[in-house]
Amino acid sequence: MNKKTVSAIIQKKQDKQKIAVLTCYDYAMSKILSSQDIDILLVGDSLGMVKLGYESTLPVTVEDMIYHTKAVKRGNSGALIVTDMPFMSYEISAQEAVRNAARIIKEGGAEAVKVEGGAEIAEKVKAILDAKIPVMGHLGLTPQAINKFGGFKVQARSEDGRKKLIEDAKVLEQAGVFAIVLEAMPEDAAKAAGEAVSVPTIGIGAGKYCDGQVLVIDDMLGMFPDFTPKFVKKYANLGETVKTAVKNYIDDVREGKFPSEENTYK
Ligand code: KIV
Repeated sequence: MNKKTVSAIIQKKQDKQKIAVLTCYDYAMSKILSSQDIDILLVGDSLGMVKLGYESTLPVTVEDMIYHTKAVKRGNSGALIVTDMPFMSYEISAQEAVRNAARIIKEGGAEAVKVEGGAEIAEKVKAILDAKIPVMGHLGLTPQAINKFGGFKVQARSEDGRKKLIEDAKVLEQAGVFAIVLEAMPEDAAKAAGEAVSVPTIGIGAGKYCDGQVLVIDDMLGMFPDFTPKFVKKYANLGETVKTAVKNYIDDVREGKFPSEENTYK
């Protein structure tokens, strides 16, 4: 399998090939996903919720992102590794944005970073790009703005919201992002945003017209028990599989059936 690069991802939109993205947070899953020709492994700050048990992504730190990116990097063979810049690691100044993005690349081993927001962060996006670090954008339901939105709510439903989405997509493209995640919005809004820019759009709850799709791996494998958004398709129910396996183990231990001969050194 060819190594996925930023330019290969951009080319996919031109070739009308869909881009498959999954989040990934650790070594073992990275190895499994990389064996399956996945285009991008996104070390998302969703790890704060699905791996660390926070109620939102807001408490996640740059250190958390570096720690998980290192593990993903060790297990990856060919996917492009993109890591989220966590809340408040790029908003305060362009200088801080560059410093934190550089740490994620240098210490974590990511090949690009993702930031949430439109026109209001364009200067920071440009500064990171000037430091030779590729940037992915993220519009619509940007979870780091959950307090501003008043919850995890579908975005770009109104005419104004839709206009702002398209404007922001154009500003991000102008700033130089190589792709834009579109999260939780009506599919016609995502379609309009995708047609307004030449870079690929990667949808999550944004319908079928996006150039690619991303899901949180724990959601699509049925491993996150707290809630499942409407846009998630569960491809497995590993939570139930684990429960059954653990129950069988407990029964075996209590009944003296484990360890058996084949698990015992002579
Ligand atoms: O943090 C994350 O996992 C994300 C995806 C849901 C796009 O940003």
